[in-house]
Amino acid sequence: MSDRIAAAQATLRANDRGGYTVPNPHIYPFQWNWDSAFVAMGFGTFNAARGFDEIDTLLKGQWENGLVPHIVFHAPADNYFPGPSVWGTNQSVPTSGITQCPVLASAARHLWEHAPDRALADARMAQIYPGLIRYHAWWRQTRDPHGTGLVATLHPWETGSDNSPAWDGPLARVPTETVTEIIRRDTGVVDPAMRPHAHDYQRYIHLVDAFRGVAWDPARMLAASPFRVADIGTNAVLLRANQDLMALGERFGTAPERAALAAHSDQMRAAIARQWDSAAGIFYARDLIADAPIRVGTSAGFLPLWGGAAPPHQAASLAATLGRWASKVAYLVPSTDPDDPRYEPRRYWRGPIWSVVNWMIARGFAAHGHSALARRIDADTRALVTKNGFWEYFDPRDGTGLGGPDFSWTAGIDLVLGTDGATPATSPSASSAQTSAAPAC
Ligand code: GLC
Repeated sequence: MSDRIAAAQATLRANDRGGYTVPNPHIYPFQWNWDSAFVAMGFGTFNAARGFDEIDTLLKGQWENGLVPHIVFHAPADNYFPGPSVWGTNQSVPTSGITQCPVLASAARHLWEHAPDRALADARMAQIYPGLIRYHAWWRQTRDPHGTGLVATLHPWETGSDNSPAWDGPLARVPTETVTEIIRRDTGVVDPAMRPHAHDYQRYIHLVDAFRGVAWDPARMLAASPFRVADIGTNAVLLRANQDLMALGERFGTAPERAALAAHSDQMRAAIARQWDSAAGIFYARDLIADAPIRVGTSAGFLPLWGGAAPPHQAASLAATLGRWASKVAYLVPSTDPDDPRYEPRRYWRGPIWSVVNWMIARGFAAHGHSALARRIDADTRALVTKNGFWEYFDPRDGTGLGGPDFSWTAGIDLVLGTDGATPATSPSASSAQTSAAPAC
């Protein structure tokens, strides 16, 4: 085993709390939804059973109504704000009351396809599959009850890209008053210049207060939220996850389940296509309150490639857009267009590179025939770690590691890249799951 693989595995083991992995013990001491999806794939490269445990443990926090929360508070820790008492969700396992970017079913499929012990993989997937089906039904029913084809995200934390400049406009509608006293823990351990501003946090907590005030009732949250956007990343990731779940459903599910996923996917594909901006050469998120596009170029705008929602001419245009971005930075993919005045290369989701987003974008380009660009993105993701280690995020100009060190999902993706190789080739519909049980790599 190479030193690098050993180091990545050691990072996951160090952050392992027994069945779940904390993203980083000093900043995020609980289980996070999409972090665990990527971590499960990382574990899958050397211990598939432990990878399945990660998903099982996350699903222990699933609500009766199907929601898979963005944080599950399995064990107490006092170094994170807002903790369980602020959320006040009254679940038997304490959780937050919102969800997060729904990559879970895609990660589960990846884990299942790559597991060497097929009997174990089948048995473990059979346990997980019903929870994934309920989660996807929750998305359809509570976040797109009128069947527009776009699901709503009601909190910047749900998008996973908390302080993206895409949310500046919609977030400006959210008052800064809070019922809850804000006691930030993050800025004690990470340079505040790399974190969201105080005014962002006031609005984040205002939303939590408002949702707690309607007892986390999904319909009332959707109606009352002063923040309601269709994140292009979340929608593209959900579309991809729908298709991965359909592929798994061939073996583990029923025809009506697959039909519901297929119908929703058709609606989503059509609605995502309408978020394309041909002049800008990128997909935009949509402000659902203003019913208008949010004209900010972000890395999420490339994710319809991963979702399988971009025809060839749009893929080519996205490649050209990323080429322009590449001429401004040393490493890909910055989270915000480097030409945008709101680009800040060190502040969290306003410019830095995130390995997990890179991984999806690279696979999206590869699936559309842009393999040189896909290889470049993978090579950059690897080079950033070679240079600096498993940091939470990286400066696109010089690769400086930012946020927290020894970060679980960065290590997880490094393991996946080191194992699958740097030439991604899967597309959402190219399914080894439908035709054989052999690993797809
Ligand atoms: C931050 C990130 C989010 C991630 C979480 C835990 O909140 O914005 O995407 O899931 O940290 O790593």
